[in-house]
Amino acid sequence: MAGHLAGRAAIVTGGGRGIGRAIALRLAADGADVLVADQDGESAEAVAREVAALGRRGVGADVDVATTAGRRRLVAAAIEAFGRLHVLVNNAGIVRVHRPEAVTEEEWDEIMNVNCKAVFFACLAARPHLAGGGCIVNIASIAGKLATPWWAPYGVSKAGVISLTRSLAVAFAPDRIRVNCVCPGPVETAMWAQMNDEGAPRVGLPPGEFTRMRLQGTPLGRLGRAEDVAGVVSFLCSPDAGYMTGQALNVSGGLLFH
Ligand SMILES: NC(=O)c1ccc[n+]([C@@H]2O[C@H](COP(=O)([O-])OP(=O)(O)OC[C@H]3O[C@@H](n4cnc5c(N)ncnc54)[C@H](O)[C@@H]3O)[C@@H](O)[C@H]2O)c1
Repeated sequence: MAGHLAGRAAIVTGGGRGIGRAIALRLAADGADVLVADQDGESAEAVAREVAALGRRGVGADVDVATTAGRRRLVAAAIEAFGRLHVLVNNAGIVRVHRPEAVTEEEWDEIMNVNCKAVFFACLAARPHLAGGGCIVNIASIAGKLATPWWAPYGVSKAGVISLTRSLAVAFAPDRIRVNCVCPGPVETAMWAQMNDEGAPRVGLPPGEFTRMRLQGTPLGRLGRAEDVAGVVSFLCSPDAGYMTGQALNVSGGLLFH
């Protein structure tokens, strides 16, 4: 549905690269002005320029979503730039590859903070501006539905994203705000490459082993592309998804069915 976000304004966190960048560009192609937020401010600015090249307003913001101040700035910057907000995409995330016995409390807290707590409080910060027909899309993962012995805290954080998505879908429904999440399978980004190249050997597996294992169970026979995820985010922000809220959609080439 081309142009379904014309006149709308969106925030994409972690928009400086990978899946977030693809989402920012897709929402811009759909007609939205986009605030590209990333803790790497330079990459946020670069993607904001790509948004502008598509004929929309693109604004880069150097924001760490894991801090209260950062989340406040996130929403304030969008309102300051666009005067309105219709879409929030909570995409920023981190992963650490370790066997459970090697996970430290610091690592646990860091992952929960960025992947789960930040998503919940960013939703709350954006709520007043989204009331009356806005939507939120959170990027979870199939890791939130599977056993993940090599990245257990990450899996817990993503299960938390699925759970908070359902809770906030109900809590925000009276304001006509839809809240959904997407659960990607393995997607070819820097994050996935790092998990394979550096992470797999750390847990005693050959480099590339995670890709081999995942592809074995993937009927469509390939890794995901960032654009595969962005297309589903676009759909969830469209009127075609107007009767969907609290959902956790797998985008995994058939690797997972529910
Ligand atoms: N790549 C995959 O295989 C895969 C699979 C399932 C889910 N996901 C999820 O998709 C999202 C994007 O993943 P990706 O593969 O594009 O990762 P990536 O590492 O390539 O990009 C993540 C971006 O988020 C930014 N970021 C990280 N922490 C931040 C913070 N505290 N504040 C602001 N920005 C921050 C990074 O600077 C980076 O630009 C993540 O939530 C990830 O968990 C990825």
